[in-house]
Amino acid sequence: CMVRHYKFNVVMKNTSRLCSTKPIVTVNGKFPGPTIVAREDDTVLIKVVNHVKYNVSIHWHGIRQLRTGWADGPAYITQCPIQPGQIYMYNFTLTGQRGTLWWHAHILWLRATVHGAIVILPKRGVPYPFPKPHKEAIVVLSEWWKSDVEAVINEAMKSGLAPNVSDAHTINGYPGLVSSCLSQDSIYVVPVTLFSLVVTNRTISSYIDYGFSIMFFFFFFLGGFTLPVEAGKTYMLRIINAALNEELFFKIAGHQLTVVEVDAVYTKPFKTDTVLIAPGQTTNVLLTANRGPAGKYLVAVSPFMDAPIAVDNVTATATLHYSGTLDHGPTILTNPPPQNATPVAANFADSLRSLNSKLYPAKVPLKIDRSLLFTIGLGVNPCSTCVNGSRVVAGINNVTFVMPTVSLLQAHFFNTSGVFTDDFPGNPPTQYNYTAALQPVTNFQTETGTKLYRLSYNSTVQLVLQDTTVIAAENHPVHLHGFNFFEVGRGLGNFNPKKDPKKFNLVDPVERNTISVPSGGWSAIRFRADNPGVWFMHCHLEVHTTWGLKMAFVVDNGKGPSESLLPPPTDLPIC
Ligand code: C2O
Repeated sequence: CMVRHYKFNVVMKNTSRLCSTKPIVTVNGKFPGPTIVAREDDTVLIKVVNHVKYNVSIHWHGIRQLRTGWADGPAYITQCPIQPGQIYMYNFTLTGQRGTLWWHAHILWLRATVHGAIVILPKRGVPYPFPKPHKEAIVVLSEWWKSDVEAVINEAMKSGLAPNVSDAHTINGYPGLVSSCLSQDSIYVVPVTLFSLVVTNRTISSYIDYGFSIMFFFFFFLGGFTLPVEAGKTYMLRIINAALNEELFFKIAGHQLTVVEVDAVYTKPFKTDTVLIAPGQTTNVLLTANRGPAGKYLVAVSPFMDAPIAVDNVTATATLHYSGTLDHGPTILTNPPPQNATPVAANFADSLRSLNSKLYPAKVPLKIDRSLLFTIGLGVNPCSTCVNGSRVVAGINNVTFVMPTVSLLQAHFFNTSGVFTDDFPGNPPTQYNYTAALQPVTNFQTETGTKLYRLSYNSTVQLVLQDTTVIAAENHPVHLHGFNFFEVGRGLGNFNPKKDPKKFNLVDPVERNTISVPSGGWSAIRFRADNPGVWFMHCHLEVHTTWGLKMAFVVDNGKGPSESLLPPPTDLPIC
């Protein structure tokens, strides 16, 4: 194995999208940022230099960080932020993982533009457990606001209301069709419904009206992402959802996709025409270019919110371009699922299984040492300075997490008192009908605190994540740092502790690091607490994290060095 060196200069960069230009925070001036490529077992050193006016920290989303929690990255959880002008060297080894992960800023809302792919190749000489693709491509999905993203969230925190929905989604940095700006911007913002007007069935084969193909002509000129393919060849797409606040559907006109991996864990291959991917998640699919010899096919990315508080039906587009196709010929369209396409989403989630082969067994914990139930949902707390005298908050087991001003991991390691308490409740403080339509008004308010939950090293944990409808049912893609977990069960309504565990899949459940808990429902996950440290868990919708839908586990049993964290690096930032 090798040591791989990267240098991340965090710099401002003027960037134009949707017909206007604004300075954005980037790594090395790129949006999306640079890709990290390494092999399983390699050590990666990334020198991050902060040249901007914001405090910065970078998280390597999904990397286990076995005993190296100092390199995990969430600000005030495992490190103090890297202040303007300062440097921090992230240093970690890729143990037992291969596939697609990603990195992103883990402070403020900087991850809107500070993110990129991590590709972990299998060890030299070890093949993929599926036919080798002809080529591979990285597909990063994201969101774009015309205004400054920090201003968007600051404004919302002042008002106590929800932040503005993004103005576009992007595919490898470009909104595609919506980015075309000729005379009037608004004409070229294409909502899902416009596709419905033009496309009569799910996939139109070749006819497109004249006006529409003209738009595609300009769209090419104005830079949507193009994926070149050769007829007959198979490609692997490494899809990453880096969007701040939206689960997304991904679809390519006229082509089926074979899912082979999620969150850097191989899956049983299955075919689908639509991929559902939540913020934080990664999905590898095989795509066979079997519609040639020539042609252009629309790649469509649209939001999934089955209980939408905010309506957003803007579709991002890219083009699958067979070699030998004329640039200004028609593009074959596709109709992405509507925003509330719950059956499409559920069908996708139900199809995911671990590969569970001899080489890649699913090590599902069968005996459980600790059984937890966490309610996740929104609430309303008083706020004297907010417009309505109240603010929207979110919480886990009715606790709205308060960020500390020094790092939790340091406080834990050096036994500093007064930074956190370890009394996070393992169950909801009161039992009620979590998913009833009408909630008693007493359920609305949350408690606040920096509470952690203590787990013994190497204990096995079952955690049921139960969405609440206290304000409204909502999608919650929940991410756990430091571990992979198995999703052993999921369902709608309230989790039933007597009946539901009987239906758990303990053989080949999907293994991942971010789970999309069904809105108005629950997911049950299992993991082994085999990684000492302080590990953040939060909703990966940035708006929900900001509102307090987060907590942390502390894993330690105070035994010898092999069961505890390595000492902090000497350049660890100070607060
Ligand atoms: Cu990808 Cu704590 O986040």
